[in-house]
Amino acid sequence: MSASDKPALLGGPPVNDRPLPSYNTIGQEEKRAVMEVLDTGVLSGFVAAPIPEFHGGPKVRELEAAFCRKFGAKHAVAVNSATSGLYGMLMAMDVGPGDEVVVPPYTMHATASMVLQTGAVPVFADIEDETFGLDPVSVEANLTPYTKGILAVNLFGHPARLEALKDLADQRGLFLLEDNAQAPGALVEGRYTGTVGRAGVFSLNRHKTIQCGEGGVVITDDERVAAKMELVRNHGEAVVADLGITDIANTMGQNLRLGEMEAAVGICQLEKLDGLNAARVRLADRLTEGLADVPGLSPPLTRPNCSHVYYFYVMRYDASITGLSRDLFARAVTAEGYYLRSGYLRPLHLEPLFRQKICFGPGGFPFTANHRNQDLVYGPGLCPTCERLQDEEIVLTNLIYPPLTEADMDGFVAAVKKVLAAASDLRSMNGAAT
Ligand SMILES: Cc1ncc(COP(=O)(O)O)c(C=O)c1O
Repeated sequence: MSASDKPALLGGPPVNDRPLPSYNTIGQEEKRAVMEVLDTGVLSGFVAAPIPEFHGGPKVRELEAAFCRKFGAKHAVAVNSATSGLYGMLMAMDVGPGDEVVVPPYTMHATASMVLQTGAVPVFADIEDETFGLDPVSVEANLTPYTKGILAVNLFGHPARLEALKDLADQRGLFLLEDNAQAPGALVEGRYTGTVGRAGVFSLNRHKTIQCGEGGVVITDDERVAAKMELVRNHGEAVVADLGITDIANTMGQNLRLGEMEAAVGICQLEKLDGLNAARVRLADRLTEGLADVPGLSPPLTRPNCSHVYYFYVMRYDASITGLSRDLFARAVTAEGYYLRSGYLRPLHLEPLFRQKICFGPGGFPFTANHRNQDLVYGPGLCPTCERLQDEEIVLTNLIYPPLTEADMDGFVAAVKKVLAAASDLRSMNGAAT
């Protein structure tokens, strides 16, 4: 072995020893837009009263109009996070105590915790192991008389099996909602993700492809859903009497309002979305090309009639082929100067919140309000595909963003190949791999 072939984890020189540039898409446009808002002195346009300002300030409304135009939706409701959007759209579907909503366990926590926030409980269905979205067969097996709807997640930038889930939801009289926080601009059968379900939520938090610091937008073609979401966003209980609204279930509101500066940044960012996605796809394709023939590593798949927008670049790893534990492989590639993570988030059904069924107060609400409370068991074995992917197979990187270049992708590939070529040297560390 030459000195340069020695893995960085064993003291050799890394493939890359310079810090990679971070992701920063904030430019002059955003700065100008924020300054214009600051000059008005009005940083939020909302008032919780039955007047036009109930719907927010000019930038919030402009952001909503821009989302409607971009995604072809009739309504958009901007909120201060996708978490708020999840809560608002579940409330708008009249979800409440006693109801069940089927969700995947492989997602950011808010997807499931916002179901609890409405007083309902999430029921976890397993995911499919190619693109990591809800498995429609498992969803069907988890439907009960208490199921109100399905909340699908377009994870890592790829659409879930939305067509099949929509058919199932329609057949059973259920709603389908989409958590589209990670897949803005992805397509399924020529339609944007976020528009297949009754409503879909986007995130504008700072880790996402487009951002405004903290923010979220829900889009829907359903006027009633949009109207109810607006009530939940802005203290609905304060206006229903004056507005003559008699259908008051789930209209007690919160403050889910988005500020004007954030909205102004969001407008600029949305204009950049297609370009940013195209850059990600170009980089991801380069990586896939380079990794295609690496034994033990399966690059991400894009299902036919879908497009992938690569929030993360997620691969499946087979340690029985490489002879290196997954954790050691990820550590060794990271040591070569290219971040690689072993697994994603712990499957949600394994979190204490669910295993102990303790949420509001120590008494167990809302689980205690579920008709099947005793039979509702969360724990290992509930979603075996998800657990296998998380425990054994998934490795992922976020390094597919501009301004990284194709040369960076080639460096990543070189790092992976270098580590695997040195597997026998690294193998001796397998025992100490954590
Ligand atoms: C799938 C998914 N859902 C929901 C959220 C919550 O987004 P936010 O931080 O905007 O509330 C995230 C953020 O990481 C996410 O990835």
